[in-house]
Formats: sequence, C-alpha cells, structure tokens
Amino acid sequence: MIDRIRDARHGYRRGLLYPAAMLTVGAAAIHFAVAPDHLVEFAPFGILFVVVGTVQLALAALVVVLPGRRVFATAMAVGAACLLVWGVSRTVGLPVGSNPGKPEPLGLADALTSIFELLSLLLFLLLLTSSPPRSTRRWWLVGTVPIGVLLTIATILGVVAGINPLPYAVNMSSGGPGRRSVTMADLNEPPGRQPEKDFTLTAQVAHIPVLGGQEAWTYNGTIPGPELRVKQGDRLRVTLTNHLPASTSIHWHGLRLPNADDGVAGITQDAVPPGGQYTYEFVVKDPGTYWYHSHQDTENQVPLGLYGALVVEPANGPAYNRDYTVMLGDANRTRPLQLEAKPGDLVRLRAISAFMEDMNGTPELLTLLGVQYRVIALDGHDLNEPAELGVELLPVGTGQRYDLVFRMPESGQVRLLDVRPQTGSAEPARDWASVGEGPAPQLNAAMPVFDRSKPLGYVSGSLATFDPTSYGIAAPDPVASRGSYDVTSDLVITNQPGLRYGSHLDRVPLKLIHMFNGKSFPDSVPIVVREGQYVRLRLVNDTDEYHPIHLHGHVFSVINRNGKPLTGSPVHLDSILVGPHETWVGAFLAHNPGLWMLHCHVLIHAAFGLSTMVSYEGIATPYVIGSKSGNFPE
Ligand code: C2O
Ligand code: CU
Ligand code: CU
Repeated sequence: MIDRIRDARHGYRRGLLYPAAMLTVGAAAIHFAVAPDHLVEFAPFGILFVVVGTVQLALAALVVVLPGRRVFATAMAVGAACLLVWGVSRTVGLPVGSNPGKPEPLGLADALTSIFELLSLLLFLLLLTSSPPRSTRRWWLVGTVPIGVLLTIATILGVVAGINPLPYAVNMSSGGPGRRSVTMADLNEPPGRQPEKDFTLTAQVAHIPVLGGQEAWTYNGTIPGPELRVKQGDRLRVTLTNHLPASTSIHWHGLRLPNADDGVAGITQDAVPPGGQYTYEFVVKDPGTYWYHSHQDTENQVPLGLYGALVVEPANGPAYNRDYTVMLGDANRTRPLQLEAKPGDLVRLRAISAFMEDMNGTPELLTLLGVQYRVIALDGHDLNEPAELGVELLPVGTGQRYDLVFRMPESGQVRLLDVRPQTGSAEPARDWASVGEGPAPQLNAAMPVFDRSKPLGYVSGSLATFDPTSYGIAAPDPVASRGSYDVTSDLVITNQPGLRYGSHLDRVPLKLIHMFNGKSFPDSVPIVVREGQYVRLRLVNDTDEYHPIHLHGHVFSVINRNGKPLTGSPVHLDSILVGPHETWVGAFLAHNPGLWMLHCHVLIHAAFGLSTMVSYEGIATPYVIGSKSGNFPE
C-alpha cells in the first residue's frame, strides 16, 4: 500500500500536486464557514455547502495520497460546477433560494473561494497534461512552502469573512412576540390645510469627481443638493425619484416629524430601489437650520454627495439683509463660497456640518474672521441672549449646525474658516466662505495643533474654544430642570478591534468596532419609552475620539457637561458632541411615538456599530434590516 502511494506520487510534480490540494482545502474551509448562515436563509443551500465542502476535502486527500487522472478529472468537474453556480448567482441570480432570480452581492468569501477553484482547475489541468518529473530532488519545496503560507492567509481571511456575514433580516420593532402593537407605517402626518410646499429631489449620478475620483451621487445634480426653504407651519412635500444604480432614502435631520416620514431604510421604510419614487410629507413645526441626507448605506452615500440644507424660516422673526447656508462637506469643495453683502448688512450664516473624512470624528473648528458676531442658534434652536464674540474656535461635530449673525463691517470681507489641526500644515483645513468685498482678514493667531494628551485632543494656541454650556443668559428649561425622570439611561461608548460584517468586498471583517454599553448595532439594547415620559441620557465617552450623538425626531435639553451644569442659555440639540473621555447629560420629552435611531454621526463610527434605538413601547415595523431586504440604515 505504502509503495503504491509512493509510486503514485512520484508520477506527478509535487510542486503542482500540493498547491492544488491546498487550494481545494481552502475552498472547502470557506464553504463550511458560510454554511450556517445559508442554512438560516435557505436550508437547501446550507446543506449543499456542507456537501460540497466535504467532497472537496475528500478530493484534496485523494490528490495527496492517491493522485491519478481520475481524481484530477473529478476535482476539475467539482470546481467547474462550483464556478458555474457562483457565476450565475452573481450575475442573473439563481432560480431558487431566498431571493430567486436576483443576483447576490459579491463578497470577499465567495470571491476568494472562486479564485481558489479557478487556480486549482488550472493546476489539475497541468497535472493531467504534464510529463513525470525528471528528478526527485526537493525543488518542489521552494514553490510549495511560500504558496502554502499565502494560501493559508487567504483561507483564514475568507473563513473570517464567511463567518461574519451581514445580518440576513433583523426587525427593529419594540414589541415582543404576541404583544399587540401599532405599526409605525400608520404614524403619518394627518391631513390638514397648511400651505403646501412641493419639491422634487432626483437622486442621480453627476460627473463631479469626489473622494479619489469617484463620480458624485447628488440630489438634482449638485453638491450640496438644492436648499429647501420653507416657513414654519408649512406642509412640506418632497418626492424622491431614484435614478441611482442603488437603492436610497431621505432622512430629515433634526426635525420633529411623524415616524413614517423619518426616511430610515429598514426601520421606517424600504429603501427606494433604482427607478423608484417615494413621497415624504410632513408639517414643519420648528423654525431653524436643518438638513437632509440619505439614510440608506449612509456611510457611503452621504460622502458621495447625497445631502442638502433645509431651512425653516420662523412664522415671524427678525429680518436679515442676507441669510445664507454654508454646508460643510468634504465632497468636492475646492473654492470658498463667495457670498454677497454690503457694508452695514445684517447677515445670518447657517453653518451645517454634513460630512468630514476623519476617523476620529474631530469636529471642524470654525472661526469667523473680520467681524464681531453672535451664535444665535445651535442645531436650529435659538439661544437666549447670546453675547458678542471675537475670533474663537467653534467646534462643530458632524450633523451639528451653528447659526451666526453679524453686521457687515464698513470695509473688508468676513471669512469663515475651518482651522481644525492638520498634521504638518500651518494652513487652515478649509476656507469655507467669504462674505462681502475688499481685503480679506487673516488669522493672526497660532493654528490649533493636535495633542492627544490634552482633554480635547488638541491645543488651541491663543484662541478660546466656544463652550455652549456657558454662553448666553440662563432661562427656564422645563425639560432640563426636572427633579426626576421617568427613564434614565447611561450610554457608555467604547471601541475595540473585532470582527464585523465581512461578507462584502468593500467590508474587511476586522474593524474598530464601536459600542454602546458593550454592544454594537443591531445588537445594541434599545431605550424603551412611552409617550409622555421624560427621558434622561448620560453619554459617557470612553474613547479617544469625538462622537456627535444624534437622536432622530426629538430634541435634547442639555443638563450638564462633565458634571458641570449649564451656566448660560438653555441648549437644545439633536446632536450632542461628546469629546474624548467627556460625559454629557441631556434629557428629552418622549412626545413622538415611533422607532427612532440614536447614533453617532461620524458615519464610519455608526457603520462600525455606534448606533441604537429609542423605541416607543408597542410600536412595530413591517420593515427589516439586512441582506434579505437590502435595507442598510448605516
Ligand atoms: Cu443625520 Cu440618523 O441622521
Ligand atoms: Cu437625524
Ligand atoms: Cu463617533
């Protein structure tokens, strides 16, 4: 027997034999890794993967122990069959399965398996056709060992990706099984006779290069999308038409609106497919500066340009000579906005931080040069008796808004810069806007520099950093000043490297996972509330990063920052910027039934898990998150 094995092996080049066997083992290992997930989705596929894996293991053993033409031919046939099925499933879709007739997304695990199978096919072909080796010297080791190392690494990657798939179907309802519940789909704006404002937003690809040369995804062909301006009390109706190659949605950031119009894929609607349409309709209750953006595959769609400003003018309020929005977004802004104003004009600048490419979530440090100004509103909500400020750093976390008001000086421009620290540069990070004409004022102070040993991660040079908790004059805030709350919750933010969602090519499974109370989305524990309850949240940041924590459909009253109660104006925010190792406490009145996301607005942090829900008891959703529905709110 032993002799027979030795004879058989001597007939073939071991430099081909062993790599071919290793490739077959690799493919088998990945097939086993994806089997459990497929068992849940569609049991026959799960069983098939186990069978194929077993056959491949057996063939690999035979290739090494008893190589022969018949073994090679069988292995080739199995490999070719796998490649064929895979090719069909990724192009036209298989006729059976959980989504029959729909192509499946390409993933790292399946791509690696197919590469393994293709390579092994070639090696088996060579084995079938090549002549026996002339010498028995150990040259084959030179090739086999490095290939073996590479294959082992690739196999581990594929297996890790295979056992960490995207969730298949997760329902974010608050009610448990058997509980009578109301569907959020019925939580619409009731009919009324408010003045109607109609808009159409067409999500479309535009030939604007963004982020390393990719084509932009836009609303109506521009970045940012069109500014929507309405009056408090209007009935806003927006029709989204999707001309993108992928499904999408629109979320209305900061607005208190009915849950069914919140625009979150998989929670308040199904993502609108390519070619589809969807209409949002709600009455705008609160004046202020808001914005809108995609809430489907948000991590990728917002950076490509799917965002715009939404301004709600007060029913009656002060008149400004100029009222401008400045969207702070990293996508395709090369030159500063040139805004017109005459000396003496009263100007309102609404700065909206839409997106920043910064893993640490470091806020933009806005500075307004050339004039004294007031911060009259944060996140759209007026501050009480705001004082005049000089050159200061205004930290704006992603998602947040600052409304600045000033009177144009007799001569010269007013400039809006972002002086966020940059490694190795004495230049401002961004020159966002200039207002008026004449000489441009310069920053006559040291630029802030990174210093991770400092509490906020930077030293501000000679400039003061604006602190919203001690600005303006105190005034009653019934939500912030309560003696007790119906629901009290701590949310401790941590991060740690771990495995998450490895099934897509662009999603490497090893990530810096972000968690609320040790759990990442969608496993994070929702905060369950009832209508009419007062809810107090303590946001504890146990990381070196910044996290602008955003709540949908509600507004926080800030209670304290790092244990120090507010000394100035009440502060009302929908996004609280929690700096490294800071703790902020805020409260809100649960006045708006539904299922509402609560997440970090640094989109990469949210995509890495920093997301949870504020769920009203007994509210169900007919929508699901995951690969079955194609709804990916992050
Ligand atoms: Cu600005 Cu969940 O969004
Ligand atoms: Cu929002
Ligand atoms: Cu964050």
